[in-house]
Amino acid sequence: MTKVHDLETPVVTIDLDRLEKNIARAQAMVDAAGMKHRPHIKTHKIPDIAKMQLKAGASGLTCQKLSEAEVFIDAGLDDDLLITFNIVGQAKTEHLMRLSDRVNKLSVVADNEDVIRGLSEAGVRHGRDVPILIENDVGFGRNGVQSPEAALSLARYAMNMPRIKFEGLMAFPTTGEKAVDYFNRAVELFTADGIPLPILSGGGTPALMTLADFPMLTEHRPGTYVFNDVMMVHSGYASWDECALTVRATIVSTPTGDRAIIDAGSKAITREQYYVKNFGKVVEYPGAVVANVSEEHGILDFSGAENRPKVGEVVNIIPNHCCVCINMHDKVYGIRGEEVEIEWPVAARGKLI
Ligand SMILES: Cc1ncc(COP(=O)(O)O)c(C=O)c1O
Repeated sequence: MTKVHDLETPVVTIDLDRLEKNIARAQAMVDAAGMKHRPHIKTHKIPDIAKMQLKAGASGLTCQKLSEAEVFIDAGLDDDLLITFNIVGQAKTEHLMRLSDRVNKLSVVADNEDVIRGLSEAGVRHGRDVPILIENDVGFGRNGVQSPEAALSLARYAMNMPRIKFEGLMAFPTTGEKAVDYFNRAVELFTADGIPLPILSGGGTPALMTLADFPMLTEHRPGTYVFNDVMMVHSGYASWDECALTVRATIVSTPTGDRAIIDAGSKAITREQYYVKNFGKVVEYPGAVVANVSEEHGILDFSGAENRPKVGEVVNIIPNHCCVCINMHDKVYGIRGEEVEIEWPVAARGKLI
């Protein structure tokens, strides 16, 4: 059996014990909240991991893109998928229809009339109903209608469009008081209008910690929890010991006393920062930081660390954001201790359409 140390770097490894624990932990949290679990596969892009999530109790999957969904459908994951992205233009609505023919249920989101009209026209062309959720901006400042009143008005529009099957509301991320108030108000408005809301879909890994604040939600869509990363530790959801994905990198140079260079740069760990500093956590040297990255070089600053690495040593880097990191790699290795147990192609890598 291949040993972890035999792998050439830079390489992504997944600690399988941690992965299994992460899957079980989040499933238990969603179960305890009495919701359905619809994990987001954009984090791992690997059908085998989605199968583990479903086996653990997930009742459906979330994809961000049509071509991502296609990879999972090709792998036989064809029961219940939700695409959380506005589908715009006839090429894409045709793509959606082709995929819909191959699955038990494929739902999409929409936050404006143009998108709903396009979906409706596609549904009419193909003689099939298109299940939709209205997307709501509950504070993130991305997609989504801006108020429960706007959601109600768009839902009424959707219900009058041929072949559109309005099924409820979704939002991301579902954290904070503003989001709670938004959903409570939406439920009040829709109930007063006699419009059923069979699905209220929330999302986000940090949001797993506050599911109890959202008793109105029927399902939850976390993604990052399978691996965790610097951001999830920063958010308070995960500890370093729950980070399953690392980029193994070799120290290739120590140009100064405080600086070491690894063979993993922005093309291996990415420049993603969001709300955290630096470019990744160096597992073996707690005081060191990935201070900068160019394409193939990672620049480690050891000024805050007690010890210094030697050229040839291998270190594990926990990326700031595991979801974008995995999209940089053709394959990853599932490991248990020193053993490489499985090699997984990142099947939906680069599937952005
Ligand atoms: C629409 C949507 N739902 C769910 C998720 C999963 O959130 P997280 O990565 O925090 O687990 C995301 C993440 O980007 C998302 O965009």
